[in-house]
Amino acid sequence: MLPLLQVRGVHKYFGGVHALEGVDFEVGAGEVVGLVGDNAAGKSTLARIIAGVYRPDAGDVLLEGKPVQIASPKMALDLGIATVFQEFALVESLDVVSNLFLGREIVHRGLLARDEMERLTRSYLRQLNSRIPDVHVQLQTLSAGQRQCVSIARALVTDPRIIVLDEPTASLSVAQTAEVLQHIERLRDMGLGVVFIGHNLSDIRAVADRIEVLRHGHNNGSFPAGSAKQEDLLAAITGAARYPSRAPA
Ligand SMILES: Nc1ncnc2c1ncn2[C@@H]1O[C@H](COP(=O)(O)OP(=O)(O)O)[C@@H](O)[C@H]1O
Ligand SMILES: [Mg+2]
Repeated sequence: MLPLLQVRGVHKYFGGVHALEGVDFEVGAGEVVGLVGDNAAGKSTLARIIAGVYRPDAGDVLLEGKPVQIASPKMALDLGIATVFQEFALVESLDVVSNLFLGREIVHRGLLARDEMERLTRSYLRQLNSRIPDVHVQLQTLSAGQRQCVSIARALVTDPRIIVLDEPTASLSVAQTAEVLQHIERLRDMGLGVVFIGHNLSDIRAVADRIEVLRHGHNNGSFPAGSAKQEDLLAAITGAARYPSRAPA
């Protein structure tokens, strides 16, 4: 079966910085791929290329085997690619429903379709197994983990096939992290292709099917999450071991 999304030989420069040097990456439907690497390895740059925020300087992106030019974030959404970036700010003074539909409100005959948005919000939260009790509470009353859940639910509004989560468990408590990991499992169960970026290996190992390591803008190993040895993963991340790139598909 063709992977949903493939990135092949992608390069990205920022002035003199060669942030991605021929990176390969892929994710299939119903698969969680952990993308790990030290700071500045190029994880967020790869996420932004997939999200249409940056254009690659070389290389290809393919959706179900067909080359695509993801020229803008809007085009990524239209192609079924949603991204949850750490820095996306939810609006603290608005409720859960309004945050989900901010900028993409459902309007019928010039009026906000509040009932429909509320119903959909409940449905997305249920699908994620969310513990947010009430869709009308203001965001500022929620925990950081619950806010992350709102960010993920907001991504579902665009009905994606692929969802990229850039460090969704960074700065969360242990209990909140466990909740977000459950949401990620739900996304996989819904059949989405999930890219889970992080640097906490135990979080990634808890839910990923496969782990891809980036180091200094290169692929440095691809591991089955269940059976990979911790020391091998660490060696790949730190550069103590070199793993040649996979042969091109
Ligand atoms: N917008 C940008 N302008 C200049 N340099 C950038 C920009 N974005 C990323 N970089 C550089 O690219 C490299 C990879 O960064 P990034 O993709 O954010 O890594 P990671 O997410 O793995 O920590 C770093 O050296 C970073 O400083
Ligand atoms: Mg990053």
